[in-house]
Amino acid sequence: MAEPGELRVTSGRLADEEGQFEMTLRPRRLTEYIGQERVVESLGIFIRAAVERREPLDHVLLYGPPGLGKTTLAHIIAGELGVAVRATSGPAVERAGDLAAILTNLGDRDVLFIDEIHRLNRTVEEILYPAMEDFSLDIIIGKGPGARSLRLDLPRFTLIGATTRPGQLTSPLRDRFGVVSRLEYYSAPELEQIIRRSAFILDTELAEEAGREIARRARGTPRVANRLLKRLRDFAQIRADGAISLPVANDGLELLEVDSLGLDRVDHRLLRALADLFGGGPVGVETIAAAISEEVQTIEDVYEPYLMQLGFIKRTPRGRVLAGAAYRHLGLPEPRPQARLFEEYS
Ligand code: ADE
Repeated sequence: MAEPGELRVTSGRLADEEGQFEMTLRPRRLTEYIGQERVVESLGIFIRAAVERREPLDHVLLYGPPGLGKTTLAHIIAGELGVAVRATSGPAVERAGDLAAILTNLGDRDVLFIDEIHRLNRTVEEILYPAMEDFSLDIIIGKGPGARSLRLDLPRFTLIGATTRPGQLTSPLRDRFGVVSRLEYYSAPELEQIIRRSAFILDTELAEEAGREIARRARGTPRVANRLLKRLRDFAQIRADGAISLPVANDGLELLEVDSLGLDRVDHRLLRALADLFGGGPVGVETIAAAISEEVQTIEDVYEPYLMQLGFIKRTPRGRVLAGAAYRHLGLPEPRPQARLFEEYS
């Protein structure tokens, strides 16, 4: 099986060694945050209202594809609230006791950030219900008939949950978030602004047209944009005079195998498999995954959302279907509808 998306320059997922790089580029205040205007505007209002009332902010659920800034926003929210943030993730919290320890150590109105919150296990999740609702912790002391339940008061806090898969949250958990915000893919002009800001922070000379070109190929995702910038900075340093001009950007992007729409080799393999092996579909995602040696979840979380956003792939009840726009982008002839129907039934 191929690496699940992590090594691709165009993956929205965060590679292990990238954390520090992201930290240096991460905006710290809402006013510095580019894009997601509706989310940012409403959060700004809720934050100010909470601060004025000296209350914790309502619990916030942020969802959307990887790399769009959920973690960044969580840290900004804490900063704007003027409180500390304790960050963890669904898979990292293994036992109910781990979560109880985190909760009891929070300060008044602090933010608890749980990334990949859909991956919390059920027993841990159940601790969260009374914690979110009443700022209390129910613990059981002892075993058998002598067991007693004890209710502990917790500090008031704000839970910020982030997930790429909101549909996988249980409804009791989802219902306890007062604010639920979906992050959208960024427009090319927004990405261009982000890239320019990052180039400034990294002290890298970036031509305007080069910034525009990188933005166009960054799949609507700031993490991808910043990663491309970082790779092109290396490329410019070794192959040119350090400045990222348009020709340098184009050559570098070609070397990275990132095409004019930001699609890479794996996207191409996926699209070509749909076209060449399955006659354009419909075909189940498991079958596609097996054909290109990727994980179903990686396909669903990382590749498909952007390919669907481009209108290249459609999800139907009978499976994935390749759209005309994808054939045109690949330079392949579009099958006639009859041919496709015939292949389906033959
Ligand atoms: N860097 C990454 N995401 C950003 C955003 N939304 N605004 C500003 N800088 C960013």
